[in-house]
Amino acid sequence: LCTSLISSIAPKYIRYASTGSGVTHAKKVAVLGASGGIGQPLSLLLKLSPLISDLSLYDIQHTKGVGADLSHIETRAKVKAYVGKDELADALKGMDLVVIPAGVPRKPGMTRDDLFNTNATIVADLVSACAKNCPRAIIAIIANPVNSTVPIASEIMKAHNVYDEKKIVGVTTLDVVRAATFVAEAKGLDPTRVFVPVIGGHSGNTIIPLLSQVSPPVSFSQQELDSLTTRIQNAGTEVVDAKAGAGSATLSMAHAGARFSFSILEALNGKEGVVECGFIASQETEFKYFATPLLFSRNGVEKSMGVGKLSEYETKLIEKAKKELNGNIQNGIEFAKQYL
Ligand code: NAD
Ligand code: LMR
Repeated sequence: LCTSLISSIAPKYIRYASTGSGVTHAKKVAVLGASGGIGQPLSLLLKLSPLISDLSLYDIQHTKGVGADLSHIETRAKVKAYVGKDELADALKGMDLVVIPAGVPRKPGMTRDDLFNTNATIVADLVSACAKNCPRAIIAIIANPVNSTVPIASEIMKAHNVYDEKKIVGVTTLDVVRAATFVAEAKGLDPTRVFVPVIGGHSGNTIIPLLSQVSPPVSFSQQELDSLTTRIQNAGTEVVDAKAGAGSATLSMAHAGARFSFSILEALNGKEGVVECGFIASQETEFKYFATPLLFSRNGVEKSMGVGKLSEYETKLIEKAKKELNGNIQNGIEFAKQYL
């Protein structure tokens, strides 16, 4: 009976357990902002994974309760909860991966850039603590505006002389998740088998889905291209408006954040060919930071896979994104100078 029970439970976890040697090389992961709308379900999904040996939950409030709750789940990750600035250093020591969903979310009528004044300082404080306590960890930034918080994080790591461009990534996975869902819906495909690269940044016009590079290959009319592109670019706002003042995407983001984290952890464990899109310091584009598909390795981001062959339509989308993306990046760099 026991054996058959275990095998009936096991498949539910396979999605989170993933493959290969990961189970024997479980890693230490911290979630900063763990009590929030994203932080709680993200921590739950991470707790389910045997890729993780230690799950460190940090927030300025409520983490003791979230931690006690999650710690009763019968999976391997040891959960520890840390609350308040005095406990931040301990939350970070020894971490391999730090995921940051701390910060305020949008309300209807706001842009992501409207969150800058509050979230820039939150991210700067948290990344400063990473520089001191886990300088070699990969830092995955969910907090908005991602187009600015990633440059802020990079400048802070530089100032502490611990910058490694392979290790600071803005999480744009939700754009990829949404693009796959919407394309699958439009074309009657299985969404779990659709991949749509999304490049650029993570706000409005700067979100650039590459509908000419969908896998499996599909073709779109101009009208489909326009409506899918607009929907993918405005999907965050679609959720903000539907939540009507109660915040922005949390559950789909938790899934996206978990997917991104598991990919990184698998690559850290030596799995080859792990690719996810992410927003990083860019070598091969004209932008200082740019999201592209990234190949991950034991070191973090091994390399950008580039943007591939763009259609005329996509080239125009990049042109349209230029001003906003460069402005957001520059705001982040300027903020960091004043903060430091
Ligand atoms: P939320 O308000 O529900 O949760 C935020 C949490 O951060 C709260 O628990 C709060 O106590 C905590 N926090 C605030 N200051 C902190 C600090 N200094 N240190 C640690 N924790 C702190 O918000 P949410 O819905 O979870 O969204 C969080 C952020 O994620 C927002 O900025 C939102 O815009 C962003 N977001 C990004 C994406 C993306 O695709 N990258 C998607 C959705 C949301
Ligand atoms: C999203 O894309 O859902 C997030 O960036 C949250 C937001 O403000 O839209």
